[in-house]
Amino acid sequence: MRKRYHLTTFGCQMNEHDSERMKGMLESIGYGEAATRDQADLILFNTCSIRENADNRFVAHLGEAKRLKAQDPTRVVGVGGCWAQSVKEEVFARFPFVDVAFGPGQVHKLAEFLTSDSLSAQGFFEFEGFTGHLPAKRAREFQAWVQISVGCNSVCSYCIVPSTRGREVSRPTDELVAEARALAADGVREVTLLGQNVNSYGRDLPRERRTSFAELLTRIDAIEGLERIRYTSPHPKDMRIDVIKAHAELRSVCEHIHLPLQSGSGTVLKRMRRTYTRERYLDRVALIREHVPDCALTTDIIVGFPRETEEDFRQTLEVAEEVGYDGAFTFVYSPRRGTEAATLPDQVPHEVQVERMERLVEVIQRRAHERAQRFVGRRVAVLVEGTSRTDPSRLRGRSRHNKVVNFDGLAAPGDLVEVLITGASSQTLTGEASLVSRASG
Ligand code: SAH
Ligand code: SF4
Ligand code: F3S
Repeated sequence: MRKRYHLTTFGCQMNEHDSERMKGMLESIGYGEAATRDQADLILFNTCSIRENADNRFVAHLGEAKRLKAQDPTRVVGVGGCWAQSVKEEVFARFPFVDVAFGPGQVHKLAEFLTSDSLSAQGFFEFEGFTGHLPAKRAREFQAWVQISVGCNSVCSYCIVPSTRGREVSRPTDELVAEARALAADGVREVTLLGQNVNSYGRDLPRERRTSFAELLTRIDAIEGLERIRYTSPHPKDMRIDVIKAHAELRSVCEHIHLPLQSGSGTVLKRMRRTYTRERYLDRVALIREHVPDCALTTDIIVGFPRETEEDFRQTLEVAEEVGYDGAFTFVYSPRRGTEAATLPDQVPHEVQVERMERLVEVIQRRAHERAQRFVGRRVAVLVEGTSRTDPSRLRGRSRHNKVVNFDGLAAPGDLVEVLITGASSQTLTGEASLVSRASG
């Protein structure tokens, strides 16, 4: 009988990408997907370690895997991803029922392990391959991730990612263009280019094959059939005019930039080792607004970084107020093992962090709500993703600005629909469909 796997994914879009590749690889060696964990011969986790609560959530799930393995010892339990990388072999001491553990650079080794006769537990933690080279099983036919680089050369003092994903390595441009072309031929309408710092793409490629991120965008934009190009995340230090102009000039590059701020205070930015100042950040925002006036801007912000004073925090509020983000991910600072910031004195007390978070969320939501009103009365192109999460009689999709749109109408996932926007909150737009362009058309 065909063996079955069950995979649970935690963390960011890069992990979602890696999980699609894991699934593709497993299916290529004959595994099928199980609907629930208890039906699986192989129980897999693709983990994240970005904040402490990411660790905790996952460890609770591992408990169930332990129970299922006790019921049937032939089951194989595998743990991949950033958490696995950050604890390495320690995983076997802490969780003896785990059979195989592997980091983000060793996903291909999972197939090797499963097809070998080895019965002993094994760990694989080199920074070696691109998961982008493995076959993919996409969550949606019409959307795809494209891994343009792995790793990160930044040294943000709070961040565990450089130690879990290694040094930055870019994939060759021709290979990426060929992959995007194959995706378009396979019915994909939207690609999201992924990297820890996408706009430093190509700097490590050999001189004669060096391509900038803006050039990569230009080459992918030229591919017939791709309607939308997104990317995440750019680093403000590397956000150059050529990339900003690509949003204005290239048909398929969407009017949305996710530009992580982290803090609005120069002193905190310095302590975070972000290598840009508040002024440089605001200057990037001004440049974006000059060339792409209607561009949606979203961000990541950390509150309660060690030694963040009330005055530092007030400067973050000020930037949030001034920029007027269309949305933001806000995080309470979480000390991570092995990072510089975890050793800094004067960690901010939890109550202060929580109180600051509440104040920040108020500003973010109010400004996002105000910003969203500009869409009311406009007709926007929506790529349909499914039915509305709150009302199954309505449809849900995304605008080019990356706004979730819930609307009335008839369309299938993958269709592009023109929707007249009739209402807007900080998070979502609502409207009515007018024109539908079929996924197959
Ligand atoms: N490479 C991307 C994403 C990094 S992780 C980038 O640089 O933008 C996503 C977000 O998690 C970061 O932007 C940051 O806001 C947050 N984050 C990272 N480490 C954190 C920590 N130790 N505590 C709280 N938030 C953190
Ligand atoms: Fe982490 Fe900074 Fe690299 Fe982003 S740029 S992954 S925050 S070290
Ligand atoms: Fe992503 Fe989490 Fe790793 S955010 S890069 S899966 S630590």
